[in-house]
Amino acid sequence: MSTSLDAILSLSKRKGFVFQSSEIYGGLNGCWDFGPLGVELLRNIKESWWKHMTYRPDVVGIDAAILMHPRTWEASGHVQQFSDPMIDNKTSKARYRADNLIEEHIARLESKGKTEQASVIAARLASVQTNEDFHSIIMEFEIKDPVSGTTDWTEVRNFNLMFETHVGPVASGDAKVFLRPETAQGIFVNFKNVMESARMKPPFGIAQIGKSFRNEINTKNFLFRTREFEQMEMQFFVPPGTEGEWFEYWRAERWNWFTRLGIDADHLRRKPHDKLAHYAAAAEDIEYLFPFGWGEVEGIHSRTDFDLQRHQEFSGKKLEYVDTATKDRYVPYVIETAVGATRTFMAVLCDAYREEEVGTADGGTETRTVLQFAPSLAPTTVAVFPLVNKDGMPEAAQAICQSLQQSFRVDYDTSGAIGRRYRRQDEVGTPFCVTVDGETVSDGTVTLRDRDTMQQVRLTADALEAEIRRRLQA
Ligand code: GLY
Repeated sequence: MSTSLDAILSLSKRKGFVFQSSEIYGGLNGCWDFGPLGVELLRNIKESWWKHMTYRPDVVGIDAAILMHPRTWEASGHVQQFSDPMIDNKTSKARYRADNLIEEHIARLESKGKTEQASVIAARLASVQTNEDFHSIIMEFEIKDPVSGTTDWTEVRNFNLMFETHVGPVASGDAKVFLRPETAQGIFVNFKNVMESARMKPPFGIAQIGKSFRNEINTKNFLFRTREFEQMEMQFFVPPGTEGEWFEYWRAERWNWFTRLGIDADHLRRKPHDKLAHYAAAAEDIEYLFPFGWGEVEGIHSRTDFDLQRHQEFSGKKLEYVDTATKDRYVPYVIETAVGATRTFMAVLCDAYREEEVGTADGGTETRTVLQFAPSLAPTTVAVFPLVNKDGMPEAAQAICQSLQQSFRVDYDTSGAIGRRYRRQDEVGTPFCVTVDGETVSDGTVTLRDRDTMQQVRLTADALEAEIRRRLQA
């Protein structure tokens, strides 16, 4: 893929898709703000997911609080296991993920042609079981701190990725709570509430969109690894023994969603997990080919009955389905689909980005930057322009604008030559531009221009809404 991350970052800032968080204070690492166009694109992606996942009788939605009872995270295993192995250099005081430090050393050896030594270390890394194993690789192969150049290392210690805060005025241990690291647990703890109130019976799913937080050591690659991010997760509760077929079903469904978003299937791949998370019996990622390489956008996990069993144990409350007719009772198994809304945003943006050579009115060529979003995802659906700011054209264009904004997100632009106005809309991915000209005032017709083909058709202003709807559904 030729698109560079720098091009995406620069466009994002210039056009108001994404800004660095608290930029006027120098920014906050790993946090980003969505600007006027970014917020629309993100909302459209979330809306598409919500419709795909919940507009069916066997899935319902919830919106749980970010702060949850701290026992939740003991039951889920996050207090014990949601950590990275970290090592500090005593001279530079820099902190690294032990596995990343070793991987980067291996990459340096490979780039210097020392492939034999690199593969010896890689084999040792693949068989690591404990923090002591990481430590002995680092010491034995004299891996140096890239900052201080020393091997003055501490032991390897686990660093939990959950952010902590306190409820109430006293910052005591009793008041400690966590910012949720996944939305999934809000679904598990509400399993019974939802099943009973919505009269659901397995197989059924509960979907949720919301913010999650992870105190990542290495934030990187723009929106890919951030400390605050948005997830779209669904837990599908099934009778034990049927989890294999439902895992296959959701693998296919979720792949279809990405291709329906307009993402090129050649830029997507499936990646089964080699290493399973503590809760999973089977797992597969959907990865997107970002400018920096393949990266996970979604995980599909067969979570067994791990979470519900643990919450039963920790809360003392039964979390079973009881069939009133047969009296059959069981703790359901779960298939989880977990997709990053913000990662999907980045994949959609990268996939839509094009720089094209196009012809100009005077017979030359120029480069246009265009975001070829699926029309239903575009932040602005229609832009309306009066060709010139006189002869009744602005009034006619404003009337069209007011009528179309009942149904679509509309922009109105009067500044500059018409060609420049088209280019500005191409750059932010607006699929349709309507131009009001001299003929509009006399016969009520306008031109409708398509972003991708740049072809224009003439139609009456009254027919615009139906034609745009037709094209959005095509
Ligand atoms: N709930 C799974 C995840 O956060 O990736």
